[in-house]
Amino acid sequence: MIRTAAMAILFATSFVTHAADQASAKADPAKGKLVAESICVACHGADGNSMTSANPHLAGQIEQYIYKQLVNFKAVDDKPAARDNAIMAGMVAALTDEDMKNVAAWYASQKLKPEAAKNEASIALGKKLWRQGDFKKGIPACAGCHGPAGAGLPAQYPRLAGQFAEYTEAQLKAFRAEERANDPEKMMRMIAAKLSDVEIKAVADYAAGLR
Ligand code: HEC
Ligand code: HEC
Repeated sequence: MIRTAAMAILFATSFVTHAADQASAKADPAKGKLVAESICVACHGADGNSMTSANPHLAGQIEQYIYKQLVNFKAVDDKPAARDNAIMAGMVAALTDEDMKNVAAWYASQKLKPEAAKNEASIALGKKLWRQGDFKKGIPACAGCHGPAGAGLPAQYPRLAGQFAEYTEAQLKAFRAEERANDPEKMMRMIAAKLSDVEIKAVADYAAGLR
């Protein structure tokens, strides 16, 4: 019943609201691929597997998270960008909202070639923080938001599994220093504030090895 009514409405409106249709069009990964191949490829790879740890992997990242970051890198009017990064500000400056949605859909659909954990000695600490957090220090388990296997959770929580440990470490330090401040309700700044350098390194390395 409901379905029939919805179809009828779809039919009726499809003749008249061409412009509105386009505005609400679904993200098109094929168009996003063209953006990736022409602009992003040098740093993130055409398939979102980047060659160096300064540039995060984007393959298999949560689509809405990628889109949000792109929006956050963009300075709107006179307001500074919510996520301050000179390189990415330049990259998104010329992108339309549709481009950002499309390229997010493209990279989200790609297969990550994951990094590995490298530091045997810190695995136990990383695993404990990931799975249990640290009750005494008031650190919640990363798994609670980023998932037991680090796959992330749509729409808000990014994938961390298989990411470069160096990138994860740099972001945790940026949250701790409040240099990165685009996390909703200070979720990551409050957690990072309680993490020591040693804990950050351990959990970042552990996340790189998650599958
Ligand atoms: C010249 C190199 C370069 C190019 C080209 C580039 N990026 Fe980036 N990108 C970076 C760097 C460096 C970072 C990490 C910024 C930071 O440290 O906060 C980044 C971060 C990102 C992030 C955040 C990822 C996360 O896990 O939070 C997204 C999303 C992103 N880039 C998408 C793109 C897209 C889409 C394009 C093409 C339109 C693009 N980038 C082009 C260098 C680049
Ligand atoms: C209460 C939920 C929550 C918990 C618990 C949590 N996170 Fe996050 N985390 C988030 C959210 C939300 C974001 C996305 C922020 C944004 O929108 O830019 C994020 C982003 C991140 C990022 C940035 C990823 C990127 O690609 O740039 C890293 C790194 C990170 N978290 C690490 C951790 C680690 C390590 C732990 C455990 C010590 C942890 N998080 C626990 C909610 C959480």
